[in-house]
Amino acid sequence: MEPQIIKSVETMQETAASLRQMGHTIGFVPTMGYLHQGHLRLVEVAKENCSKVVVSIFVNPTQFGPKEDFNRYPRDPEGDIIKLKEKDVDIVFMPEADDMYPEGFQTVISVKELTKGLCGASRPGHFDGVATVVCKLFNIVKPHIAVFGQKDYQQLTVISRMVRDLNMDVEIVGVPTVRESDGLAMSSRNSYLHPEERESARSLYGAILMAQRMVEKGERDVSYIIKELEGFILSHRHTRIDYVKIVDPDDLEELSEIKGDSLLAMAVYVGSTRLIDNSILKID
Ligand code: PAF
Repeated sequence: MEPQIIKSVETMQETAASLRQMGHTIGFVPTMGYLHQGHLRLVEVAKENCSKVVVSIFVNPTQFGPKEDFNRYPRDPEGDIIKLKEKDVDIVFMPEADDMYPEGFQTVISVKELTKGLCGASRPGHFDGVATVVCKLFNIVKPHIAVFGQKDYQQLTVISRMVRDLNMDVEIVGVPTVRESDGLAMSSRNSYLHPEERESARSLYGAILMAQRMVEKGERDVSYIIKELEGFILSHRHTRIDYVKIVDPDDLEELSEIKGDSLLAMAVYVGSTRLIDNSILKID
């Protein structure tokens, strides 16, 4: 069946309220569109857990910095709707920016500590934009469950903390990263990569495997591991490191020594495309 397309915030709110009244459970997948297998996996998880699935497509302007790629962010609403129809999605919510942020809008949600490092350090204001729009989307879509990819690990952590801190009545579910056959994490931004850059983009997953091997062999010195990973990434053409960090997976604080399961997180420019990836480094 064709999904119902809803563009108005008010209609989405009314529809969500009546679905709840009828006893449905609402599973929600917020996206910025240009959907790939990673998004579709989130949809599957929402479907497994709820009787109705809502997917939002909204390229949220407030989470992009002034020099970032908001204007050229890839968009394909028709293609997205076909993919969502194949996955039996019930509702696609596609709001307009001025319905989401009407004249006079001035409220910001800021999750303070968790957004200081990693992508928060290189993209000031990004997570305020994400937390605020996700909070708004939760109020509009009224989901029982909301599903996010672990590829955006910091985003998942920030949203989980917002939900906990603000007593929001929604369960956050994180889903493992879906990868291309050579390990590259799926991302809408991969479409920016030229063929040579696409080759170099493999270095992110290569660095993850390298770190895992080092930890398995007993290496615990974080600055040594990072130096090796950076050298490996930079040995690939077109790469420039934004950050490579090993942090505590709960509070995202930087570690100097690996004592338990730790998060390797990185952001690397390949050409002008900023790619992120992460993995939990497990000890024993
Ligand atoms: O991960 C994304 O696509 C976006 O950050 C989100 C969660 C849809 C908010 O705009």
